[in-house]
Amino acid sequence: MVCRYKVNIHIPNSLNSTFLNCINVDEFQVYRSCDVLIIGGGSAGLRAAIEAHDAGAQVLIISKSKRGDPHTVLARGGINAALGTMDPEDNWMVHAADTLKEGEFLADYEKVEILCKNAPDTVNELVEWGARFHREEDGRLTQRFFGAHTYRRTVFYEDWTGQEMIRVLMNQVQKRKIEIIDNVYITKLLKSSDFSKEGPKGGSGADTEPEMIGGALGINIEKKEIVVFKCNSLILGAGGYTRVYSVSSSRIFENYGEGMALAYEVGADLVDMEMVQFHPTGMVWPEKALGILATEAIRGEGGILLNSKGERFMKKYDPERMELGPRDVVARANYNEIVDGRGKEHGGVWLDVTHLSKEKILDRLPTMYKQFKEIDGIDISKEKMEVGPTAHYSMGGVVVDTKCRTKIKGLFAVGEVMSQIHGANRLGGNSLLDTMVFGKIVGGEAAKFFNESRDKTDGKTEKLSSSSSTIQLDTNGQKIFKDKIFVVNNPVKFRDELQDLMKLNAGIIRDETKLKAGLKSVLQLNEEFYSKDNITKEFKPSDIDDDMDAENIVLTYQVKSSLVVCEAIIKSALMRQESRGAHYRSDFPKIDEEKWACNIYCSSSSEFGEEMVLFKHNVKEIKGELADFLSTHVKAEHHREFE
Ligand code: FUM
Repeated sequence: MVCRYKVNIHIPNSLNSTFLNCINVDEFQVYRSCDVLIIGGGSAGLRAAIEAHDAGAQVLIISKSKRGDPHTVLARGGINAALGTMDPEDNWMVHAADTLKEGEFLADYEKVEILCKNAPDTVNELVEWGARFHREEDGRLTQRFFGAHTYRRTVFYEDWTGQEMIRVLMNQVQKRKIEIIDNVYITKLLKSSDFSKEGPKGGSGADTEPEMIGGALGINIEKKEIVVFKCNSLILGAGGYTRVYSVSSSRIFENYGEGMALAYEVGADLVDMEMVQFHPTGMVWPEKALGILATEAIRGEGGILLNSKGERFMKKYDPERMELGPRDVVARANYNEIVDGRGKEHGGVWLDVTHLSKEKILDRLPTMYKQFKEIDGIDISKEKMEVGPTAHYSMGGVVVDTKCRTKIKGLFAVGEVMSQIHGANRLGGNSLLDTMVFGKIVGGEAAKFFNESRDKTDGKTEKLSSSSSTIQLDTNGQKIFKDKIFVVNNPVKFRDELQDLMKLNAGIIRDETKLKAGLKSVLQLNEEFYSKDNITKEFKPSDIDDDMDAENIVLTYQVKSSLVVCEAIIKSALMRQESRGAHYRSDFPKIDEEKWACNIYCSSSSEFGEEMVLFKHNVKEIKGELADFLSTHVKAEHHREFE
């Protein structure tokens, strides 16, 4: 092949000089190498990058969106830490108890402990880095209520805290001159054997020696280039999977579960995939705004929910906490009012702050004021907002230990890609926190892994195999090529059908009939998606495609990831025959501690062929000081029932 494309090579210190002689750079338009590769430019990825850099690793961040504009910027209401500035009784154990209770005791308590113990230092670090969190007149950081918090614990910058955090983190990244390449969409993770002369060793899980991660393959959307990255450690911080639902608080280009699917495809397991959080208050009107978040901070600042009869209906569902009840309870209450015919004309309920002063609204909720004014044309200080549930957060994700390590050596996951911090339901304000706490941990661990493996990797031959496609037969005996870069006919049709069927069959209220119908449709779409007739174009990663349609590749791979994730959500939801947290089964409306105090795992182990296999494990038993605290402070009857 003639080398007619721009080749951009960076050789980190950790790779020796034989590297250049071993790699055939002609095969790729862009080949980059680094010690720690981070997929995702959100708060988790940026925090990880800072830590890995400070631990001596050469870090590269790749991001599918424009730098400074990851999904984190949509995180509105705040970040939790038991600082006790407003309520001195608060401490990390109360925070941990609230987190575990909200998650219906499905979370890994050790991760919860790490999260809550590290929260105050995390917020203080952000302050040191220049975060402009709201303060009281005497200088204390202001903390506000979010749903299901025992005390005021959420620190905030107006109502766009995520954006403020990204500003601060980007400053730190830039100060350290950490490189970011944006507009890169990853289609496949590569193992170390993909870079060896012998090529890949075989299907995931088949090897006796666990394989190491090697890098990633993708496309630069803007430049229409195939890009290949080689690394020692790889951190997946690529977001969640709530965009597989048609009504979602994610933007249309994000959160198709790419991180989960990429990890799953190289042999990592997924867990708690049925646990999808529906935020109670997404916009419902105008149609183009469907799902956009109306922050929980609105209720934290005193906003109330009303049905079409003007009733403050939360009295029925959670008389004690009312609008500040757990997210799953408030979301189902909103849903219930709407389906029972007490909703408003656009299919929502009212969220009302007209009793608050305009001054307070502009001080605490300026973005909401602007958002409703600009999009819906209403002045929220005078008129009510119309809202309804929206898919907001993925509690499920890639199985990792407390150090964010997957079972693939060198592969780490963080942020919404990781799992078992929030259990069956996430406490509002804990998401920004987990990206920071575990971002720091994963950055350190990835750098440590790189340092430890440096000696072993030095001097090895490194040649990306171009023959890593697996040829399989579909049901008609036709050849399909799952590992080549490919484009399908009309990917948007697949995306839209999936989103609609997920809302209908695996949404906020589930049952066996709907879930089975949903699974059948997902599997049918899967077959259609991969059928020979549907694949309009395919090429080996090492082939240059002169007329690459980058946008269609991205759309195709969004569907590819969604198919994995939707199958996992539905199969897990079918398996869990109870209602717990965000997972509500109308045919099993109660929690069942005896049978279901366990996590459901999805595995692609090659022992079982291509099948996604599910199994369950009991939740880790809570031990130590947290166990003592819970036994004295939390009622045994911790769970809630939904009428
Ligand atoms: O409503 C919100 O501002 C969301 C916050 C969160 O999900 O933590």
